[in-house]
Amino acid sequence: MTKKLLIFLMAVGIALVFIATGLQAGTEVADTFEVRTKEYKSPKKSPATLSHKKHAEDYGISCGDCHHDKDGKALADLKMGDNVQRCVECHTKLTKSKEDRKNIMVLENAMHGNCIDYHKEVNIKAGDPKGRKGPAPTSCTKCHPKKKK
Ligand code: HEC
Ligand code: HEC
Ligand code: HEC
Repeated sequence: MTKKLLIFLMAVGIALVFIATGLQAGTEVADTFEVRTKEYKSPKKSPATLSHKKHAEDYGISCGDCHHDKDGKALADLKMGDNVQRCVECHTKLTKSKEDRKNIMVLENAMHGNCIDYHKEVNIKAGDPKGRKGPAPTSCTKCHPKKKK
């Protein structure tokens, strides 16, 4: 009897561990963070800061506008707590050469494509004909602030 009870209690214990890890599953993301892909061994620019939560909530941009699947198809049903891949997992090329200056699989191009192109659209809608002035940042130093000496 006590042996059965022990086995039962162990089973409950194991089940609880599974539930607890289940609740913790998924990729965590800070509200605001410096986008710095650690795979860059000697980055040329200071990291850009992304107000992730503000973008998703206050600016009302959907997850799928930035996160997509292996075919580049928007992850429209993505939600907090899901497993999310980092851009560098697919956009694996860390350097540009003359031949692939515009290759979207180059991480820098993917980041710039997603962020700068969208910012230009936002600015054009806000009445800035070339989309370079603001309110959304499009110049190098706005995103990559010069390091203080
Ligand atoms: C809207 C914000 C934004 C703007 C504007 C912007 N960048 Fe970036 N840039 C990023 C982000 C985000 C990354 C990815 C950083 C990472 O993964 O570490 C990046 C990456 C890079 C990288 C590769 C990583 C490194 O540091 O070597 C270079 C080089 C770079 N940017 C240069 C520029 C230059 C030059 C300009 C202006 C023509 C510019 N960026 C404008 C956001 C921006
Ligand atoms: C404005 C574009 C944008 C929007 C909108 C956005 N994200 Fe992100 N998200 C990013 C970028 C860029 C990263 C950094 C990816 C990297 O480091 O490679 C990121 C990182 C994440 C990460 C952490 C990934 C990791 O492994 O570090 C999670 C989780 C995440 N986002 C979930 C979401 C969810 C859920 C939504 C919708 C509620 C969302 N994101 C909306 C651009 C966005
Ligand atoms: C699971 C793999 C995968 C991940 C993760 C991924 N991408 Fe992509 N991405 C692709 C592929 C493949 C394409 C090319 C699609 C095509 O050729 O039409 C692409 C295309 C793009 C494009 C050009 C098309 C467009 O939608 O404007 C941009 C910009 C881009 N990715 C940015 C990002 C950013 C930023 C992240 C991280 C938040 C990211 N990608 C994460 C696979 C991925």
